[in-house]
Amino acid sequence: METSPSSQVVTDSASTLPASSSAGSSHLSSLNLALGNPIAHHVQNPEPMTEDPLWYQHAVFYEVLLRSFGDANGDGMGDLAGLTAHLDYLQWLGVDCLWLPPFYPSPMQDGGYDISNFMDINPIYGSLDDFRTLVEGVHNRGMRILVDIPLNHTSDQHPWFQSSRSNPSGPYGDYYVWRDDDSGYPDARVIFVDSETSNWTFDPVRKQYFWHRFFSSQPDLNYENPDVQREILTIIRFWAGFGVDGFRLDAVPYLFEEEGTNGENLPKTHEFIARIRQMIDAEFPGTILLAEANQWPEDVVEYFGTEERPECHMCFHFPVMPRIFYSLKEGNAQAIRSILMTTPDIPTTAQWSTFLRNHDELTLEMVTDQERAQMYSWYATDQRMRANVGIRRRLAPLLDNSLTQIQLANILLFSLPGSPYVYYGDEIGMGDNIWLPDRDGVRTPMQWIPEANAGFSQAAPADLNLPVISSLSYNPSAVNVQSQLEQPHSLLHWMRNTLAVRKAHPVFGDGALVLLPTDNPAVLAFVRHNAEETILCAMNIADSAQATTVDVDGCAGSSVTDLFSGSVFPSIAEDGSLRLTFAARGYYWFSLSH
Ligand code: GLC
Repeated sequence: METSPSSQVVTDSASTLPASSSAGSSHLSSLNLALGNPIAHHVQNPEPMTEDPLWYQHAVFYEVLLRSFGDANGDGMGDLAGLTAHLDYLQWLGVDCLWLPPFYPSPMQDGGYDISNFMDINPIYGSLDDFRTLVEGVHNRGMRILVDIPLNHTSDQHPWFQSSRSNPSGPYGDYYVWRDDDSGYPDARVIFVDSETSNWTFDPVRKQYFWHRFFSSQPDLNYENPDVQREILTIIRFWAGFGVDGFRLDAVPYLFEEEGTNGENLPKTHEFIARIRQMIDAEFPGTILLAEANQWPEDVVEYFGTEERPECHMCFHFPVMPRIFYSLKEGNAQAIRSILMTTPDIPTTAQWSTFLRNHDELTLEMVTDQERAQMYSWYATDQRMRANVGIRRRLAPLLDNSLTQIQLANILLFSLPGSPYVYYGDEIGMGDNIWLPDRDGVRTPMQWIPEANAGFSQAAPADLNLPVISSLSYNPSAVNVQSQLEQPHSLLHWMRNTLAVRKAHPVFGDGALVLLPTDNPAVLAFVRHNAEETILCAMNIADSAQATTVDVDGCAGSSVTDLFSGSVFPSIAEDGSLRLTFAARGYYWFSLSH
């Protein structure tokens, strides 16, 4: 077997773990051991961060829930020091940037997205000093960090709201959206349909209704008030001052309200985001903004702004995600093809954020009613698997714990346009617990080792913030980092190797996409190309072996080399056609060259 120079395969054996070194603090090493961190003694080499201003176009992101990753102080709740202790693992995996959901003081009615003080750390996670240590540890390993700013609402426990309800004519009286009745903005949908029936709730203290797009314990801020806008800029400045590399702007479409509209994506909302961007560019250049806008592609692209008035560097691509799951069950690539065809071009400095799963339900807002019904019948047969307009399950259980399906879903994630976001635990195929309330079933402790509490915490099991998964197929003995490190062909090693191959080819991050015609609807084929290279991605979405002829127009006679193995395949024919055969759920990444 020949290995092409472009092939950057990481040997898939446990021996690829980094060698021991004396670098790193002894405090963290002992913490690592206490946490049962299987790569604790394999300290990574320090690495500089890339200076590429467009780093986010080539980065691999990893969403990590502080409360469920590592518990350093043994109180049952994951914390900042616990995450810091596991940074070697994330560096080893090939993560470039962490995304941390909110860690601010909060009554935790919405996983911390209900904030009672935006400029501090929730003591359950540690202190501002612990946060500084985390940021330093991340940067020392050449990685970056995004923090989450829910700017649409606060907790009802926030002093602003407490003051607003008790002192309407005081300085905070106008910080929220108050009305005498609940008839305003009737065209705005209710998002949390499982728990809310209206976007208005009566406050017995102020004796008025307040507006909220999410839980009634999360009143919406009043963006018509310039003081509110100033407060948000101050908060962003505060965290940017810690050297974070970017902000996820949570629930961003809903900042303003307007009668006669659905209250989403309003021009004033875009104006305010452009104002944040202006401030960031002037005061913290290089820091990025990521929009969480669960909208159709033509509406989401507005959050990139324009060259003259830029908004966000990245936006989540919500509609492509459910279509990956839809296609996999249907065994047909059409749903993915059609959403790619209707996704507009984005500015050259922008990037999509793509994902399979995150800390929320697998949202089905961006599909048709018919597709939604079909998805529920495939993926959420039990009512407990549903939440709001979506499915509260993790990747592995959604895909029947099938390694080939999980790999194919990730191959789609890693090869479609955008930078991929991996949800913690999905790299080892963790399970979920549909008996836990709300979305907690997909937020359980990370499974490090096949022992008590999965190595997440030294607390008594009953004191854990959420129970470790105990089901037959997904308990820590069945699924954990340590044993997957030992097995060269585990999902974990496959993820690391595949990410390394992807990273060796920047075209996956910045290349154009050209969908290719095939004569088999089960096969998705497309080319990613930039000035340097052309890669053909071809996937058999079906659960049975398939053959197809792909029409690679403009590449007649090109040689075809498999990126994973370096194996050379028959060249593309003079008429531009390439005959391919696939195993069930099989896939190829081919380098094409003349
Ligand atoms: C975002 C978060 C979600 C939260 C909601 C309200 O959608 O991802 O977890 O519940 O905002 O803050």
